[in-house]
Amino acid sequence: MLLNIQDLYVHYKSYWYIHKVLNGVWLRMMEGERVGVIGETGSGKTTLLKSILRILPQNAVIPNGMIKFKEIDMLKAGETELSMVRRREIGMIFQDPMAALNPVFKIKDQLYDVIRYKLFAEGYNPTKEELHDHAVKVLNDVKLPDYERVLESYPFQLSGGMRQRVMIAMALISAGKLLLADEPTTNIDVTIQDQILKLIDRLVKQRGLSTILVSHALGMVRQMTDRAYVLYAGDIMEEARTSELFDHPAHPYTSLLISSAPKISTREIGEGIRGKLPDYRSPPIGCRFAPRCPYAMDKCHTIKPKRTIINTDHAVTCHLYE
Ligand SMILES: Nc1ncnc2c1ncn2[C@@H]1O[C@H](COP(=O)(O)OP(=O)(O)OP(=O)(O)O)[C@@H](O)[C@H]1O
Ligand SMILES: [Mg+2]
Repeated sequence: MLLNIQDLYVHYKSYWYIHKVLNGVWLRMMEGERVGVIGETGSGKTTLLKSILRILPQNAVIPNGMIKFKEIDMLKAGETELSMVRRREIGMIFQDPMAALNPVFKIKDQLYDVIRYKLFAEGYNPTKEELHDHAVKVLNDVKLPDYERVLESYPFQLSGGMRQRVMIAMALISAGKLLLADEPTTNIDVTIQDQILKLIDRLVKQRGLSTILVSHALGMVRQMTDRAYVLYAGDIMEEARTSELFDHPAHPYTSLLISSAPKISTREIGEGIRGKLPDYRSPPIGCRFAPRCPYAMDKCHTIKPKRTIINTDHAVTCHLYE
């Protein structure tokens, strides 16, 4: 097993409140798998990815749970071990490239840093020329033309698509085993979104990486993953092979999510799901989807449903199936 997340809780503390976001999340993946995580905005997708790398914001706490990456217990690991994982095992493409790139340093310095750290971690001290050659190679891999200019630029001097490619290049340097891709195309032009996705797909295959792709773009997840998880308000509602999940969704939330996605081919625009995500300061005590669920029964409002296996690789967290 490459990654094993069990019963993960993440809370964000603010001055007055505790926002109880992740509510006992599980996720398991084998080496080489491509896993998707889908769910509405605010459901906790980024929180989940950041907890894997242990890069949650200062006000986050993990009151309970287990995250095992290979043999490493990520919630107990020390700083040295964590930085080893971040430098050479797991890379992350962030939702917002401007937040991931430092505005006051040239691309070259940021790339050199990541490369140097990775090689250091492998016990090697590269020369300036080697850093440059390595940087050129990774920019080539992500098909960035005019790399000498890119290397000498500051992030703001590049287009959104170029920044995204730089960030993918940086993520790939550290992703020896696993690539976490958080909405990798949200900030770029629709016309090049497809190119970027194909690029990621190709690089992942070339390097034999495992991936977790997080997105609310369902078409993209359907196309690029083998298995997928549905996250709603911090709870995994359903998990299945991707094709099974889309063709035979079991959880009422999954069905609504899939049928409300805009269907561009038929020019039909989805209506969305009525209601909104619960308030994380006082989330429902039963099923977190119950207030919006057309099939909610009494116990859905009072008892948290359990994960129920309904088929090979297919599990659902819903009282209708218990
Ligand atoms: N540092 C923080 N402090 C308090 N609340 C936070 C913090 N970071 C995130 N949250 C809250 O946690 C919830 C989940 O956020 P998260 O970014 O994980 O969602 P997401 O599924 O990635 O959404 P999106 O699809 O919009 O990227 C949201 O309600 C968000 O407001
Ligand atoms: Mg997010």
